[in-house]
Amino acid sequence: MIYADYNATTPLSDGAKAWMIKSQELWGNPSSSHRYGRKALELLNNAREQVASMLAVNPNDVVFTSGGSEANTMALLGTALDFGPGFKLLTSKVEHSSIRDTLPLITKMGGTVKFLSVDPNGQINLNELREMLADFKPHLVSLMTANNETGVVFPVPQVLDLCEEHSSMLHTDAVQGLGKLDPSFYRGAHLVSISAHKIYGPKGVGALVIRKGTKLTSTHYGGSQEIKRRGGTENVIGIAGFGGAVEEFMRLERPSDLKSIRDHFESLMGRGMDGISIQGVKEPRIPNTSNIRFHGIASEVILGALDLDGIFVSAGSACSSGSISPSHVLLAMGLSEQAARECVRFSWGRSTNLNSVEEVAQTVIAHVARIRARNELKSSSH
Ligand SMILES: Cc1ncc(COP(=O)(O)O)c(C=O)c1O
Repeated sequence: MIYADYNATTPLSDGAKAWMIKSQELWGNPSSSHRYGRKALELLNNAREQVASMLAVNPNDVVFTSGGSEANTMALLGTALDFGPGFKLLTSKVEHSSIRDTLPLITKMGGTVKFLSVDPNGQINLNELREMLADFKPHLVSLMTANNETGVVFPVPQVLDLCEEHSSMLHTDAVQGLGKLDPSFYRGAHLVSISAHKIYGPKGVGALVIRKGTKLTSTHYGGSQEIKRRGGTENVIGIAGFGGAVEEFMRLERPSDLKSIRDHFESLMGRGMDGISIQGVKEPRIPNTSNIRFHGIASEVILGALDLDGIFVSAGSACSSGSISPSHVLLAMGLSEQAARECVRFSWGRSTNLNSVEEVAQTVIAHVARIRARNELKSSSH
C-alpha cells in the first residue's frame, strides 16, 4: 500500500495518541474549579502552548476550533459581524470550500465580496491586489497560504505588507502551510487558520490564531471558554492530541526531504511519458504536492487503476472528489472542464521515501501507456 493523499489527511502520530490517552485519564471539565477540572485545564493549556510554540505566537492568541473549516468560517463571519452591514471582503477564486461556502452568508448580512483572479499557474497578481486595496478598500482580505489542490503558495508576507499599508486586515487559511512552510511566512497575518489532521493529529480539531488587538465578534455562545471567543465545552481529547502531534512534528519533521523526493517523482514522470503537465510548476509550491494532468485520460480512470494496485491518490480536493463537478481551483487557473477532469493530486508525507515515489511513477507510467494504447485502438476502430 502506498498512501499519497497526505493533503486530504494524515495518520495519527504516536505523539498525538499518547496525549489523547493521557487526556482520557484527566477527564474533568476544564471549566470546573475542583481538582478534576484544574487537571483538564492544565492539559488544555499545555496543548495551547505546544501549538503556539510551533507558530511562535502568544498562547493566548490560539482559539481551538473543530478544525480548519470552522476556523475559516469564524474568521470571516466574526469579522463581518464586527463591522456590520457594509462589510467588504476581498478573497480569491481558489480558496477552500469552507471560505467559498461562507461567502453567501456575508452577502446576506449586507456585505460585499470581491475576488482576485489567479493566473494559469494558480498565482495571484500583487498589482491587482494593490489596485483592489486602493479602490475597493476591503475591511478583510482572506487569502490562503498554500493551495490544497495544487500546492501553490501565495506570497503572504508581501500580501500582509500591502494590507497593512491600506489598513485592511489579513486572514490566511494556513491549513496546508502548517508543517510544510516556515511559520514566519504566514503567522504575521491578523487571523490564521490551522488544522490538526494535516500534521498527524486527530480530525475534528484546529485553531484560529487571532493576533492581539484584532476585532472579532464571537460566533459560538454558551460559556466563557477560549477567553469568551468560542463558547462550548472544549474537545479536550482532540486538543491534547493536536498538542501531542505538534510536539512530535517539531521533533521529527524535515520538509526539505519531501521536496527532493517530490522533485524526483516529477522528473521521473516527465521522463517516462509525454502529454502530462504539472499545475503551478512555475510557482513556489509546498514541498509535498504534485498536481498532474494526464492529457486525454479522465482522472477517475487513473485513480481506479491505482486503487486496485494499492496506491491511494486523489482527484482535486477530497471534498470535491465524489462529486462530478470539476475543481473550481483548476477552472480558475484557466483549465477547460475536460482538462480539469484529467488532473490527479499526489501528496506525500511521513511514510514516503524514494522507493515509494519510484514505484508510484513506474505504475502510473505503465497505466497511462496502457490506457492511451487502448483509447487509440478504440478511436481507430470507429
Ligand atoms: C486549505 C484547506 N483549508 C481548510 C481545510 C479544512 O480543514 P478541516 O478538514 O480541519 O475542516 C482544508 C482541508 O482539506 C484545507 O486543505
